[in-house]
Amino acid sequence: MQGVVLGLLSSIAILTLTPAANAADARNGETLAKRWCADCHVVAADQRSGTTQATPFSAIADRPGFDAAMLALFLLSPHPKMPDMGLSRAEAADLVAYIATQGGR
Ligand code: HEC
Repeated sequence: MQGVVLGLLSSIAILTLTPAANAADARNGETLAKRWCADCHVVAADQRSGTTQATPFSAIADRPGFDAAMLALFLLSPHPKMPDMGLSRAEAADLVAYIATQGGR
């Protein structure tokens, strides 16, 4: 499901988490974020409100230590204050790619 076409092109099946950022699809990440994350997080510049406890995605992207691989891992592990969304690796990578586009606002 993930990277089949890209895998053919590069002749490498990307199955590890870390390099998936290259293959990630930020547009799909945006769709996922608006569906699953926007109840709590401000996920886009034109969104007015989320809950006050959840960090806006732009703030996450602007952090000095922003690390796509770490963030994807965070999203794949259950987190106390967030529902376990059962994301696939590809979905987590897409979300991270999208979050990365939200910096600098
Ligand atoms: C039910 C509300 C809720 C939903 C839905 C939710 N989150 Fe969160 N999220 C939170 C809260 C609250 C925190 C702050 C947790 C903390 O401080 O420990 C958080 C923290 C985070 C963090 C860490 C932020 C930081 O400051 O390091 C990331 C990244 C994140 N969420 C991403 C997502 C993504 C991506 C989605 C959608 C797939 C999502 N969240 C859906 C409530 C939510």
